[in-house]
Amino acid sequence: MALEEIAMEGPEARVSDKVARLTETCSRGWERFFADHDDHQAPRFVPSVPERVFAVLEEVTTRNLPPNRVFCEWGSGFGTATCLASLLGYEAYGLEIEEELVRLSRAIARRLGMPVEILCTSLFPEGYEAYSGVDGLELVTPESRSDRNANDEDRGLLRYDGMEIAIADIGLFFASPWPEEQALMQQLFDAVAMEGAMLVVYHTDKDIRVFRKV
Ligand SMILES: C[S@@+](CC[C@H](N)C(=O)[O-])C[C@H]1O[C@@H](n2cnc3c(N)ncnc32)[C@H](O)[C@@H]1O
Repeated sequence: MALEEIAMEGPEARVSDKVARLTETCSRGWERFFADHDDHQAPRFVPSVPERVFAVLEEVTTRNLPPNRVFCEWGSGFGTATCLASLLGYEAYGLEIEEELVRLSRAIARRLGMPVEILCTSLFPEGYEAYSGVDGLELVTPESRSDRNANDEDRGLLRYDGMEIAIADIGLFFASPWPEEQALMQQLFDAVAMEGAMLVVYHTDKDIRVFRKV
């Protein structure tokens, strides 16, 4: 895998009024959602701590690490990180598989006046999927099925349903996976992102990792 891990300086983010309003609105949204759903109805979902996510996204942005200002959240839940990226000046997309979360996150973004796009689709583009092997989850790609290596042209054509831009046009990805999916997110990023793109992976509020595709 050709990923380079980038050390973060870990500054405490200055939380502006806009960021505070956004995190409060999103938090109220998910508190209400969990109050309305019992454990069996709610998707398996632990939201990330928005202030920590914002601190890392802000540092990545002020250090100019992404090659452009297009952001995509893999598994966007209530869309908090997607809205935070929009506040930081990104054209921001969230991909979420649960329809109800898509509906709620779109409503929250509208209420906040955030021009984000939340798509109800899988973070695995067509032809890609997770396979549960003996060593844990592995990424299956069209190339792994055909023994052929993807080239830049293949990558340039790859897109998500409903998204006008290609996946290769996304400069910054964010994911907050379950522990068993953390390596899988890196594999997917390595397989589909453009060279120079960045991936922020939230493991816990004290462990947020940043990678560049080299
Ligand atoms: C741990 S939650 C994180 C939510 C949000 N990113 C955050 O940081 O608070 C994972 C989210 O990914 C969604 N998800 C799971 N599998 C997915 C898939 N294949 N494609 C898109 N979303 C998915 C879940 O429904 C859930 O909302």
